[in-house]
Amino acid sequence: MLEGKKVLLIVSGGIAAYKCPDLVRRLRQRGASVRCVLTNGGAEFVTPLALGAVSEDKVYQELFSLTDENEMGHIRLSREADLVLVAPATANILAKMAHGIADDLASTALMASDKPILCAPAMNVRMWENPATRENIATLAKRGVAFIGPEEGDMACGEWGLGRMSEPDQIADAVDDFFRQGLPLNGIRSLVTSGPTFEPIDPVRYLANRSSGKQGHAIAAVLARLGSTTTLVTGPSHQPDPAGVKMIKVETAVQMLAACESALPVDIAILAAAVSDWRVEAAGTSKIKKGGDKKPPQLSLVENPDILATLSAAGNARPRLVIGFAAETDDVIANATKKRAQKGCDWIVANDVKPETGTFGGDANTVHLITEEGVEDWPKQSKAAVADCLAERIVDTLTSAQ
Ligand code: C5P
Repeated sequence: MLEGKKVLLIVSGGIAAYKCPDLVRRLRQRGASVRCVLTNGGAEFVTPLALGAVSEDKVYQELFSLTDENEMGHIRLSREADLVLVAPATANILAKMAHGIADDLASTALMASDKPILCAPAMNVRMWENPATRENIATLAKRGVAFIGPEEGDMACGEWGLGRMSEPDQIADAVDDFFRQGLPLNGIRSLVTSGPTFEPIDPVRYLANRSSGKQGHAIAAVLARLGSTTTLVTGPSHQPDPAGVKMIKVETAVQMLAACESALPVDIAILAAAVSDWRVEAAGTSKIKKGGDKKPPQLSLVENPDILATLSAAGNARPRLVIGFAAETDDVIANATKKRAQKGCDWIVANDVKPETGTFGGDANTVHLITEEGVEDWPKQSKAAVADCLAERIVDTLTSAQ
């Protein structure tokens, strides 16, 4: 979940620098913008062209370059970042950092930085074990520099041991974890369902409903923004995948239940999907043909599993907080209150989906939160705002339970 985060990536001269274009791609896929500084040594292993292409930005190399200083001085380079990532961090750059040496753009930007620094060391095992490196690492750690890796394994030099740079995905995870620290839902796992389900009649036809997935997707997005590790199980929806959320896309209620069960254990489950109550008992693999004096087919329906009730009764695997939605057209509060008891969930978010409210498929929602304590009426607001309010209530509840 790196949406809007700015990473300054310092690439120093180790063979692992060849992994940096991949690292840049992975950070950007998670929403970060990445600006690269390349040392002379780094440029022996990876070209500025490759880093510039994947970062879609200029790659900075020269300390005494008039153009670089005019466009982006070494002070601004590090100050504009939210995090400085040194990958690969060679024994040499770690030594410079520990001893305050600033003799090129990378080391000068690091000295000038007032931002958190994360290093992914990469070097030969003997260099890693050298007392000079051990002392430099200890000094940097004492000053608050964070480290990811190195890993144990085969090295480019043919030796085996500690010194391989962590894989790009591991480094991106560490950057992710870094930004989650301090967020209110850090360490909390959430499962959200969203959208309709499609229940096949035959290979081309299906039973469905008018759910757009807007509400469920908005909830998953805000939970991830607040630091929760979030899985979104969604039926067919045109909503974009929310940033930083693990997506599981399904069609039917039976698939949705299986996907939810595969996501357990979680701390919170918010089931906002409009799950079809029934499915066609014997959906065939051939298209049902019309024609002649054939009568229209009679569809025999069977009940779908109730995902909310199943997760609410999941024994040891029951999430700490299970929240359902109740889309009602009549007696909204009374029906939703009954539903909370029947399904065994903790909260119900009840909403009026009479066609004139425009809730189904629309951008706004008027909901009532039903908990053990009673009913709260929330004002009409956008589905994104409903998601924000619900997340706020979740944070309050989890923090007051600690
Ligand atoms: O029973 P009803 O469909 O009105 O209940 C709505 C709530 O139950 C929603 O949270 C919905 O996601 C959930 N539900 C479910 N599985 C079903 C039907 C509804 O999880 N088969």
